[in-house]
Order: sequence, then structure tokens, then C-alpha cells
Amino acid sequence: MKVTYIIANEGDLEKLTGFLSRPEIDLAFIKPLSSRAISIAERVYSKYKAGLWALAIDEGGNVAGCCALIPREKEVEISTYAVSPEHQGHGIGSALLDFLILEGKERYNQYKTIIMDSWEGNKAVERIMQKTGFVLREAYEDPDKRPPGVKTVVYERGL
Ligand SMILES: CC(C)(COP(=O)(O)OP(=O)(O)OC[C@H]1O[C@@H](n2cnc3c(N)ncnc32)[C@H](O)[C@@H]1OP(=O)(O)O)[C@@H](O)C(=O)NCCC(=O)NCCS
Repeated sequence: MKVTYIIANEGDLEKLTGFLSRPEIDLAFIKPLSSRAISIAERVYSKYKAGLWALAIDEGGNVAGCCALIPREKEVEISTYAVSPEHQGHGIGSALLDFLILEGKERYNQYKTIIMDSWEGNKAVERIMQKTGFVLREAYEDPDKRPPGVKTVVYERGL
């Protein structure tokens, strides 16, 4: 599967909002993105303003995957990471993270640590974190973001 990896510009945001609003993408998150405190459109725009979005684009020009990188107080954080079901399992998610981390090293070189959160039981993320050199930092109950009984897990690695 041939895809290209880009850093999104403002002109890509509508397409990205469309991608994350597809039910099979939205509902793959726990909780779904559409059930979070901010709308998907606000999420896309606010993360674009605060940091950057990396996108995987397929041969037809469609978004195949995305993830955001946001500088926080002490570390940079990966957020809203997804690959469409029809593109999953071909290494696109791993390559997208590698691309994002390289870009992060250039833009945010004052930071030493990169983190990503997920939820307990997300095996694909567990595997990717292991492959890309992240280790588990902590797991905790997170009622605003997850349903009862599903813990948030946080992974970290050096940037
Ligand atoms: C996480 C996600 C982005 C990965 O995208 P992808 O393009 O399929 O990723 P890759 O093909 O690079 O790698 C996936 C790895 O996870 C493994 N994997 C996938 N599903 C798995 C499962 N249920 N159990 C164990 N491993 C699994 C694959 O085998 C592969 O590992 P391998 O290379 O050793 O075989 C994608 O699964 C996704 O969008 N999931 C839904 C949204 C989500 O969970 N986002 C993360 C929010 S924190």
C-alpha cells in the first residue's frame, strides 16, 4: 500500500475532520471522539494551533491515518492516533509514528520526553509502543475520558 506522510497545513483540516468523523474511526476510540468534551472539528483545529498533525495520505489523496503532537509543560504528547480499518495492518501506523517523532525532534528539541496515552486492552497500541521504543509509565482510572473499569495507560520514551 503506497502512502505518503505529510505535516498537515490549514487546508487539510476539513479533510482530517471528515476522516475522524467516519463512524468506524470515531467509534474505535474509547470513549468515541464525538462523545468527548470538545467536538471533532474543535479538536482538529485546536491541536493544529497548539502543535501539529501528521497525516498518512493514500494514492487517491484520502487520509489513511493521522496523529497529533502537542507540546505540554514538560513533555510532548501524541494524541488522536488512528489508521482507517482498510489501511490497518500494513505498517502505516508505525511509519506514521516514526515520521511524527522525527518531526517532533526537529521542532521541539528543547523537550526530552514524548508520551502517548491509550486505554487498557488496546493491543495494537501496546504492540506499536513496544516496537517504537516506548515503555509503560502508569495506568489510572480516568472517568472523564474512559468508561467505568477501563484505565488510561500512559507510555513514554526519550525524544
Ligand atoms: C493503532 C492503529 C493506529 C495502528 O495502525 P496500523 O496501521 O494497523 O499499525 P501497524 O500496521 O503499523 O502495526 C500494528 C501492529 O499491531 C499489531 N496488532 C494489531 N491488532 C492487534 C491485536 N488485536 N492484538 C495484538 N497485536 C495487534 C499488528 O500485528 C502490528 O504489529 P506487527 O507489526 O508486530 O505485526 C490502528 O489499529 C487504529 O487506528 N486503531 C483504532 C484507534 C486507536 O486505537 N487509536 C489509538 C488511540 S491511543
